Amino acid sequence: MDMERVLVAGAGQMGRGIAQVLAEAGYAVVLCDTSQALAERGRALIADQWQRAVARGKLTPDAAAAALARIEPVADLAAAAGCQLAIEAVPEDLTVKKDVFQQLDTYLPADAVLASNTSSLPITQLAAATRRPWQVIGMHFMNPVPVLPLVELVRGLVTADEVYEQARALVLRLGKTPVLVRDVPGFVSNRVLMPLVNEAVWCLYEGVATAADVDRVLTLGMRHPLGPLALADLIGLDTCLAILEVLHQGYGDPKFRPCPLLRQYVQAGWLGRKSGRGFFTYTDGGPAGPSPALARTGQGTGG
Ligand SMILES: NC(=O)c1ccc[n+]([C@@H]2O[C@H](COP(=O)([O-])OP(=O)(O)OC[C@H]3O[C@@H](n4cnc5c(N)ncnc54)[C@H](O)[C@@H]3O)[C@@H](O)[C@H]2O)c1
Repeated sequence: MDMERVLVAGAGQMGRGIAQVLAEAGYAVVLCDTSQALAERGRALIADQWQRAVARGKLTPDAAAAALARIEPVADLAAAAGCQLAIEAVPEDLTVKKDVFQQLDTYLPADAVLASNTSSLPITQLAAATRRPWQVIGMHFMNPVPVLPLVELVRGLVTADEVYEQARALVLRLGKTPVLVRDVPGFVSNRVLMPLVNEAVWCLYEGVATAADVDRVLTLGMRHPLGPLALADLIGLDTCLAILEVLHQGYGDPKFRPCPLLRQYVQAGWLGRKSGRGFFTYTDGGPAGPSPALARTGQGTGG
């Protein structure tokens, strides 16, 4: 099956990253969000990345222009009609994802593949929302997509061998490394990572150390490139909370219970980098220090 034209649903941080690597590899990409403005903003942010690469001499202006021409921003999933693959990267919410899957199932050609970039939700359950469950697969890209080589490939209960092989070939063409995992909540990545993130939030909540010091223990002591709280800010605190809820419910194990502080930050709209504030505050240029309110409540850090 020819998969040269791919629809990416969701032009948030993951959808943009996936669209970027697909366009760089020569695929025609239809980038869909809930409004034309959001889809176009997604394309513009990808263009910024390529402009930076051009400025650093890593990409020629012609290659950047050609890749940009391969991305078509749209506001309607009906554009899936011309695609052989759709990769869904909408928020980590089962209801939202099921709705998108049902729409994509309606619009995609009968032999097309439907992939989800979900971090934790059951692929089998998403597949069951469609009339083509054997053509549904999890393709879990890592953040930031252009930088990290891993893609977890998650086979649902009835995912066909052929579909798995197609997804694997696509990942290899992107220059990335596929790892096959079973369809369990959080797969391997977030089943292992989220308890670490959550425990770091518990440490902050209980006043064990400041946010910066919790992170320093992991960066300086364990050589993690990012501390768990900065990583949570990068992932998005709403996404971390959603994943922990799926793990907690999926395994029925209290070890996954989300820390109340994480829930409170999400309620406050502190979603991490994407909202400018999470455990740390951010300017467009990067981290700007501890969250001011954290500093006020004594939970912050001297930096
Ligand atoms: N953030 C991470 O580090 C990370 C890593 C791997 C996987 N994921 C997964 O990727 C998915 C997206 O996460 P994100 O961080 O990009 O979120 P995000 O909030 O940055 O982006 C989600 C985008 O989806 C759009 N959207 C919402 N409903 C839509 C619809 N019906 N049709 C089209 N677009 C719609 C939103 O407007 C938004 O632009 C989630 O399932 C998440 O769990 C996230």
